[in-house]
Order: sequence, then structure tokens, then C-alpha cells
Amino acid sequence: MQVVKSIAALREALQPGPAPAFVPTMGNLHDGHLALVRQARAAVGPQVPVVASIFVNRLQFAPHEDFDSYPRTFERDCALLQQEGCDLVFAPDEAELYPEPQTVKVHPPAALADVLEGAFRPGFFVGVCTVVLKLFNAVQPGVAVFGKKDMQQLMVIRHMVRQLALPVQVLAGETARADDGLALSSRNGYLSPAERAEAPALAQALRTLAAAVQAGRRDVHALETEAMDRLSERGWAPDYVALRRQADLGEPQPGAGEALVVLAAARLGRTRLIDNLELTTL
Ligand code: PAJ
Repeated sequence: MQVVKSIAALREALQPGPAPAFVPTMGNLHDGHLALVRQARAAVGPQVPVVASIFVNRLQFAPHEDFDSYPRTFERDCALLQQEGCDLVFAPDEAELYPEPQTVKVHPPAALADVLEGAFRPGFFVGVCTVVLKLFNAVQPGVAVFGKKDMQQLMVIRHMVRQLALPVQVLAGETARADDGLALSSRNGYLSPAERAEAPALAQALRTLAAAVQAGRRDVHALETEAMDRLSERGWAPDYVALRRQADLGEPQPGAGEALVVLAAARLGRTRLIDNLELTTL
């Protein structure tokens, strides 16, 4: 496995050759990330290179967020990627990806990007889209894999790829979870032992809401409020619990038979966790 820090070295390593499969990450890898690498390999076979990037993207962090304390475990990440058969790690520093202030940015549409995560993290999806487009331009992948753990991010990226006619096929990886249901996340490392024991309650809240919908309840706002209230009673500070259409994150029409997803974000102590669960079509 080769590790390159510059776009020039990346180009040299990949050209000439087939368009690689690509898994962008911010590092501190866990089995959710590694499953995406395995999915990338399975999608393209043994002959096509699999590239992972490791870059903590300042542009998607608000000033009060955890950019400085975000866990950086580069050596361990590279060892894990090598074990998974990743061919190339692209690990630019900030000066390589942002050699000058990034004034040209990708602005995804408000209906998709200013709701839910975007409402609580203004500018987040501008930062994500801008860095993903730059990473795509650097790596020039034929296939890129993103996790459903970040469902709204996946949808925003797919929208960008379609609207900008990027020659990339976007694949979605299932959410990897711990045995107790907690979605794997680099930010789980911030949790105290007591918080870690409480953390599966977020996934449980999604399952409870989904089960109520499957059982026929249609009072969406009441269901969302009940879920948030239950989390609050347990000591969480929920930002949102929302039942939305999978197609476009719009509010579902009762009885319309649409595929739905319930998404949530909540803080437990100082750690903000997100999760989501897809519901089969009603
Ligand atoms: P990061 O949080 O490191 O996640 C990298 C990829 O791993 C994303 O596609 C994310 O959805 C996926 N992922 C994270 N946890 C997962 C889990 N438990 N199961 C399955 N997939 C999971 O998301 C980002 O980085 C950044 O926003 C990035 C796209 C790299 C742009 O900076």
C-alpha cells in the first residue's frame, strides 16, 4: 500500500490505469469505514485500485466544533487500511488541498442541505460538498462509497454528483453497529463509560418510532415529539428526531406508501451523535 500526500504523487501513482474505487474519510477508522473499503473492493474486483483518503476537513467544522480535538490516528489507520487490501492512501495536508482560501464553494440546495443536520450545523454540507468535489477531482474515481450512517450526507453527495454530471458511481454502505446497536462513529470515543452505556438509547428511539409507524400510527409530529421527550428524560439534548421521505427528505404524506427514514441527532454530555433507520414502504 502506498501513502501519498500530494495530488501530483496521487496522479503519478494512478496514471495510466483504470479509474479507482474511492472511500473518503476523516480518519480514526473503525469497522464502518473498513466495511466501505471492502465494499469498494468487491465493486471493482482485484485489478482496479482502491483508494482511501484521510483528511480532517476544516471547511465542514463550525468554529465552536471539534476540529482541533478530532481524533487523528494516522499510523493505526494506515495499518488497518493495508490489512483490508487498500492500494493507496491519499492523505493531503491542509496546504495541499487548500493552498489558498477556498472562495469557490459548492452550495447544495436548501431543501436538502439546510434542514436537519444543515439546520443545526450551518455551512456543514457546503464544506462537505466542496471537499468531496476536490477529492473527486484529485482521485478521479469511477466508484465512490459513502456510508448510510450519514444518510443526509449521502443524499447531498448523490444530488451533487447528478447535478454536476460527475462521472462517479456513488455506492451506499450499510451502517455498521456495535452489538448493542450503537452506530460506530469516530465521536463515540468521546463518550465516558456511563455515556457509552446510555448511547444505544438513540438507536432504540429510532427503532421504537419505526415500530409505531409500522404498527399504523400516522401522527408523525407526535411521534417525533415523544421520541425527543423520551431522550430528554434520559438526559440527552436532542436536536431533532424526524420522520422523512427517503426520496428527498420531505415530510411524508400519511398513507402515501413512500419509503421513509427516521433521522436523529442528539447530544449526550458534550458528544453529539447522529443515527438513522430506514423503514420499508408502507
Ligand atoms: P467520516 O466521518 O470519517 O466518514 C467517512 C465515511 O464513513 C462516510 O461515508 C461515512 O458515512 C462512513 N461511516 C461512518 N460511520 C459509519 C458506520 N458506522 N457505518 C457505515 N459507514 C460509516 O463523512 C465524513 O468522514 C466526511 O464528511 C467526508 C465525506 C470524508 C468529507 O470530509
